[in-house]
Amino acid sequence: MSINSKNFKNFSRLENILIIGNGGRENSLAWAIQKNVLVKKVFLIPGNAGSERINKCERIKIDINNKKELVEKLNFLKVDLIVIGPEIPLADGLADFLREKDFKVFGPGKDGAKLEYSKSWAKEFMQDANIPTAKFWKVNSLEEAKKIIHSTSIPLVVKADGLASGKGVFIPDSKEECVRATESIFNGKFGKSGDMVVLEEKIHGPEVSVFALCDGIKYILLPTAQDHKRLNEEDKGPNTGGMGAYSPAPLLTKNYLERIIKEIIEPTINELNKKNIDYKGVIYFGLMITKSGPKVIEYNCRFGDPECQTIMPLMDQSFVFLLEKCSMGNLTGSEKINTSNKVSGCVIATSKGYPHEYKTGFPIKIGKIDPNDCQIFDSGTSLGKDGELLTDGGRVLSIVCQDKDFDLVFEKAYKNLKEINFDGIYFRNDIGHQVRKNFFKES
Ligand code: AMP
Ligand code: GLY
Repeated sequence: MSINSKNFKNFSRLENILIIGNGGRENSLAWAIQKNVLVKKVFLIPGNAGSERINKCERIKIDINNKKELVEKLNFLKVDLIVIGPEIPLADGLADFLREKDFKVFGPGKDGAKLEYSKSWAKEFMQDANIPTAKFWKVNSLEEAKKIIHSTSIPLVVKADGLASGKGVFIPDSKEECVRATESIFNGKFGKSGDMVVLEEKIHGPEVSVFALCDGIKYILLPTAQDHKRLNEEDKGPNTGGMGAYSPAPLLTKNYLERIIKEIIEPTINELNKKNIDYKGVIYFGLMITKSGPKVIEYNCRFGDPECQTIMPLMDQSFVFLLEKCSMGNLTGSEKINTSNKVSGCVIATSKGYPHEYKTGFPIKIGKIDPNDCQIFDSGTSLGKDGELLTDGGRVLSIVCQDKDFDLVFEKAYKNLKEINFDGIYFRNDIGHQVRKNFFKES
């Protein structure tokens, strides 16, 4: 069944939606959800300074760790569906807790979130299900790591086992660097997240992000996306949370996507079932397209940021229904995602110094923005004493545009960026270079 406005009556009450999280990802989810005519309010805990610029949105000040107060507030607000954005509350079991209290929740329980919060567990999971991924070794001490590093001839990457805000992966150029990275993790660079280390074969190829909305058994795919992880143009510099993205990723042709479904997506969902994990949420497959085929680099238990900001404007108002169906375990798997026929691109504006140390609190000036198919989702902002918009994070704003081709998309995005200013603003000029036909002519 495809979801359209004619069969709205098939859905239960969806007036009040709650989103947990404070980034550009959560603002873009709110923006897509509020499009639905049935939705009256979208609450964000805690949201950021951009949240209340979005139609129907309201920020709620409450500590999600104060469980008693949280449940009382959600009951008072008559929340119909909860969407949990970031990995930390998912890894802490917030979805399990809220489900026990009879809320409908989009987001996996602690068992499903383990796909992201333990890299070694995820690697063993892939091994059990015969899912293509880089070779790996799980190590508990520096001595053990040194033995592997010195006895293998293949280049390795080094990863802290647990959550590390995207900073726990090292791509060393030599065995010495590999040892130093491992040592820094065991010396406590990431606290308990570094109690175990995963050494992985270094693989090569372009990376793509695939998102499956999953109801425990069935799933549907969102448009694919390509992120830009490195800080600087030409994919140089340190890894970041993501400096921009585009969607869909033309690299994944229909045939190739079918291969990914067969070799990776379906085996992942089958393995979750085999392990009795009732996964109701999004599975983010971070893939590398290697010469020998697609391989999983990582799983995440949440939407990607900035991929989510890029994909959400392609959704129509049935998006919230899909989230609800996942939360209730009643996807048919054949829902049509009514995406627009446009393509989308996002450029992230960051604070100077990101992903290392940076200062915040600089006023943001936004001039004349093209209103046609352009969105600005705040990623890290706050309001000053007089209500002025201030920088309040490493990634500050997500500038997102849609059009019929990627040249037009990024032309608009960069034109809008000229209208945005804050002290130390930084962004890459080459986001989408892979898909901009005019890129080489321009540069
Ligand atoms: P992760 O947090 O696991 O996604 O890793 C961050 C980034 O490190 C990925 O997006 C890749 O660019 C890179 N990376 C991770 N694992 C590997 C690997 N086995 N081989 C090559 N690059 C990798
Ligand atoms: N864009 C990468 C991530 O969300 O992990």
